[in-house]
Amino acid sequence: MKLLTEKITVKKLLRKKASGEKITMVTAYDTPFARLVDEAGVDSILVGDSAGMVVWGMENTLSVTLDMMIEHTKAVARAKPRALVVADMPFMSYELGTATAMKSAAELVKAGAEAVKLEGGEEFAEEIRGIIRAGIPVMGHIGLTPQRYLRLGGYRLVGKKSNEQEALLRDALALQEAGVFAIILEFVVAEVAKKVTEKLAIPTICIGSGPYCDGQVLVLHDMLGLTLNPPPFAKRYADLSSIVVSAVRRFVNEVKGRGFPSREHYFTLEE
Ligand code: KIV
Repeated sequence: MKLLTEKITVKKLLRKKASGEKITMVTAYDTPFARLVDEAGVDSILVGDSAGMVVWGMENTLSVTLDMMIEHTKAVARAKPRALVVADMPFMSYELGTATAMKSAAELVKAGAEAVKLEGGEEFAEEIRGIIRAGIPVMGHIGLTPQRYLRLGGYRLVGKKSNEQEALLRDALALQEAGVFAIILEFVVAEVAKKVTEKLAIPTICIGSGPYCDGQVLVLHDMLGLTLNPPPFAKRYADLSSIVVSAVRRFVNEVKGRGFPSREHYFTLEE
């Protein structure tokens, strides 16, 4: 059993692929949840742009800004996690060219990220090389790339057709060649995710792409039952919604019934 005080670095994550130990990653967007998931023993915390949907109530991730991601990253970093903190680069923070991508990545690192993640394949190899040249580790993300859902034609399973399978493999190899340290495979046909995983020297971390990957990632709010429409591949490990509703309902009833505050919850001149 590993000590849970050991800081997880990119190097340590890479070693897990070699040793066959599965990698775990979950999202967090604020200090209390970053503390809790770290205590639970995840290897990596993803400050995902899914924050736009699960925390800010947006329809998609296209309106998430770099400033929002910087503030979420700062909040997560304040928990001082031992897990590796990876921050998502939001839509249009890296697509305009290498200089913009490097500047955006640097701002996330200054906010506390230890690596950044961006969506896309070989078309962003140059931007990825630039960010890595600046000393910032990069994680790739292919398959269902929510920032590209308009072009993809919605949130759908990727890799059923042979042209998509070839593109996935080509992108994965191009990302590895560009220097990413790991690749997220989102909502990819399981057999294709297996093939990609076997072809790569770097780890694949999957979401909705089956059991053959080197690791698994889930969106925390889906896991905890805090989202209304979780994706079909998400597993709910707890129902925090009903816990929150019943706790707040008790408060409402106690205030109305004059049960709260009771004597231990207020102070008088004598104290
Ligand atoms: O933003 C996010 O939470 C993600 C995961 C779905 C991998 O990118």
